[in-house]
Amino acid sequence: MFSPEGPTLRELAVQALSSVERGYDLLAPKFDHTPYRTPDRLLDAAARALAPMGPFAAGLDLCCGTGAGVDVLARVCRERVTGVDFSAGMLEVARARTLPPAPAVSWVRADARALPFGPVFDLVVSFGAFGHFLPRELPGLFGRVRSVLRPGGCFAFPVVAPPRPGSAGYWTLLGFDAAMRVRNALWRPPFVMYYRTFRLGDVGRALSRAGFRADLHALPEFGRRPDGSPRVRLVVARRLGQAALSRPPAG
Ligand SMILES: C[S@@+](CC[C@H](N)C(=O)[O-])C[C@H]1O[C@@H](n2cnc3c(N)ncnc32)[C@H](O)[C@@H]1O
Repeated sequence: MFSPEGPTLRELAVQALSSVERGYDLLAPKFDHTPYRTPDRLLDAAARALAPMGPFAAGLDLCCGTGAGVDVLARVCRERVTGVDFSAGMLEVARARTLPPAPAVSWVRADARALPFGPVFDLVVSFGAFGHFLPRELPGLFGRVRSVLRPGGCFAFPVVAPPRPGSAGYWTLLGFDAAMRVRNALWRPPFVMYYRTFRLGDVGRALSRAGFRADLHALPEFGRRPDGSPRVRLVVARRLGQAALSRPPAG
């Protein structure tokens, strides 16, 4: 899981006792050597799925970290790409990366819940960050994303199918979330990171309420589960017009 260049157990413990922002500031220099960085295999699959829907003009990587999603956007956006994150440490690592000359890339420090942009993007992507938001924050977050998209723009992110109840993966995630709840009950500042709170059904309803029409694209590179459902899907949510916001959500 962790390479020798990754953080030590002690470093991870200190990070986990910090706020999310401070924790990532501390982790930043070693972040790309941890399993928390989205793997290239998933980034490549997302880029392949998005390519036929583009090209897009301007793209935003929400909670960009060291820029994993910026690499995807650079492949499907023609004009400019922006990475936004609230960790100054993660952005410092991102800025030090060597990127191709086009499209132009910029990095902005901001909270995803208060994005400092108007409706200037055609595509917003996000990888590996939704566990940092409580379920009650999702409607507001999706509303902010909608507000930075041009009409008809897309919001895309992968969702991995949850592990089968009773499997090793199921107990691992359950144990992680339980430990995090105990940590957050006992320690301030909180470190919000839950694996089991971002559920496809809830996400679909929150997107619909925020004024999106969401489609699911199976990522064939990851195969299917024994019941035939895809292991990994790309949610592609298209920004609907203002009228969609006044209609009651479907379902
Ligand atoms: C697990 S990392 C993922 C980074 C990158 N997207 C990737 O896939 O490798 C989560 C990132 O979300 C950022 N983050 C968490 N909550 C945020 C918020 N409210 N606003 C902006 N960034 C946030 C963290 O600073 C961190 O860089």
